[in-house]
Amino acid sequence: MNLENKVVLVTGGSQGIGLATAKMLKERGATAIINGRNEGRLKKAAEEAGVDYVQGDVADEKSVEAIYKTIEEKYGRLDALVNNAGYGYFAPLEHIDLEQFQNVFATNVTGAMLMARGAVPLFKKQNSGNIINISSTAGTRGFAAGTAYCGTKFALKAMTECWRAELRQHNVRVVLINPSEVQTEFVVNSGRDARPYNETKLHSEDIAHTIVAALEMEDRGFITELTVFATNPQT
Ligand SMILES: NC(=O)c1ccc[n+]([C@@H]2O[C@H](COP(=O)([O-])OP(=O)(O)OC[C@H]3O[C@@H](n4cnc5c(N)ncnc54)[C@H](OP(=O)(O)O)[C@@H]3O)[C@@H](O)[C@H]2O)c1
Repeated sequence: MNLENKVVLVTGGSQGIGLATAKMLKERGATAIINGRNEGRLKKAAEEAGVDYVQGDVADEKSVEAIYKTIEEKYGRLDALVNNAGYGYFAPLEHIDLEQFQNVFATNVTGAMLMARGAVPLFKKQNSGNIINISSTAGTRGFAAGTAYCGTKFALKAMTECWRAELRQHNVRVVLINPSEVQTEFVVNSGRDARPYNETKLHSEDIAHTIVAALEMEDRGFITELTVFATNPQT
């Protein structure tokens, strides 16, 4: 799809991968709309990037309804949803806190489902659309202390396949992207200590480029799943 004048909603767009994606979409002529919960951070990011914003918590059904009401009233259409909002919770099985486990599923799984569900009526009306689900290499293999986070990203892969089966007949492309480690606030937002900057590891722009490339492919085809590694990361 040619991104010129297309309307693209990026959840979790106030920083990191989502914000870099919105900036790249704008460079391609798209109307990028970023979303996040913290309105102050979201507004500041949107103003600095010159993109639109819609505040809301993807895990909250009423909030998602309000997001789509704004999209319908203000733009009247949606060409792509980038389901990017998410964070990690890492703990060994025997120490998992139930509330934290349920909260990470609420954002990464229920949130992605609510956002995709809200987009379907618009996509069906237009007979076109795109959903880019941002999973992780944690959605391709499990690891110690990964029960919660890997669980959410494996679930996202399963939902991707179901949505694809349902929506292809409506010309909706559903794509799964699995980044490996990307240097963002993810580590800190997942309750771990910040890591020093490492030139050899991935940047948000690398994933933004992957998302934009997947969207820019001619509509007759689509990439089902893409995994992005750093070429030769040094520790
Ligand atoms: N960084 C990595 O190494 C890495 C690797 C693989 C996959 N990923 C995935 O990439 C995605 C983006 O991560 P990132 O690295 O860019 O993280 P980040 O820098 O921590 O940004 C996360 C964004 O999500 C928003 N967010 C979190 N929960 C939300 C909710 N319930 N509703 C709406 N917005 C919400 C945050 O804003 P508010 O807090 O204001 O809501 C923020 O804008 C996530 O799905 C993550 O799992 C990241």
